[in-house]
Amino acid sequence: MENKNLMKIEDNKNKRKRIAVFASGNGSNLQTLIEYTRLNDINGDILIVFSNNADAYALKRAEKNSIKTYCFSHRDFNSRKSFDIKILELMVENKIDLICLAGYMLLLSPEFIKEYQNRIINIHPSLLPSFKGVHGIKDAFDYGVKVTGVTVHFVDSKLDNGPIIIQKSVEILEDDTMETLEDKIHKTEHIIYPLAVEYFCKDLLEINGRKVSISERKKIEN
Ligand code: GAR
Repeated sequence: MENKNLMKIEDNKNKRKRIAVFASGNGSNLQTLIEYTRLNDINGDILIVFSNNADAYALKRAEKNSIKTYCFSHRDFNSRKSFDIKILELMVENKIDLICLAGYMLLLSPEFIKEYQNRIINIHPSLLPSFKGVHGIKDAFDYGVKVTGVTVHFVDSKLDNGPIIIQKSVEILEDDTMETLEDKIHKTEHIIYPLAVEYFCKDLLEINGRKVSISERKKIEN
């Protein structure tokens, strides 16, 4: 990206983390992250919420919680690159240390990811690398797997591919429907996403190639 300012993202270790959440839809994960960061001292605060969708309920959730929101669509820009530069400028202006994708249904450009390398995390509703893409829950259900789950991972330039921080399995029982499975998946997301964010904010994550180690792990409640 050409703008020189964009290169000045400082090293974010040993400081309280400024978090941005990107969401395109309902925002139940955003809600959980807001509540968790306010109830627990995780060494980080959600400062802004960005959406590419003006109708996203996530924006309302942010407003109700007095969190600054930004919303614009890539359709209003000449190119995806100029759209991404605009978002990146917002991140730099707000001195954002960590970007959490929470149902953000647009791919970030490789240039954007490079600027925020190892500082963007995503939640995906399957046990990656199985069932990548935008229909993770349905694809697992239709395939007939007996076990699926949730993954929180760092974002790299390939779809749903980066190093995995936490995974938690979810059983698919014979009497499960898409609705009951979705419900189980979302409940599981709301358990592991806040934990992953907490580990990041407390500098407990170390990335070595594809492997992420967590130096002080909390017990995951069922
Ligand atoms: C979540 O299930 C999340 O895992 C999924 O979108 C949903 C957003 O729900 N993300 C993806 O599928 C990304 N590939 P929410 O808006 O209620 O947080």
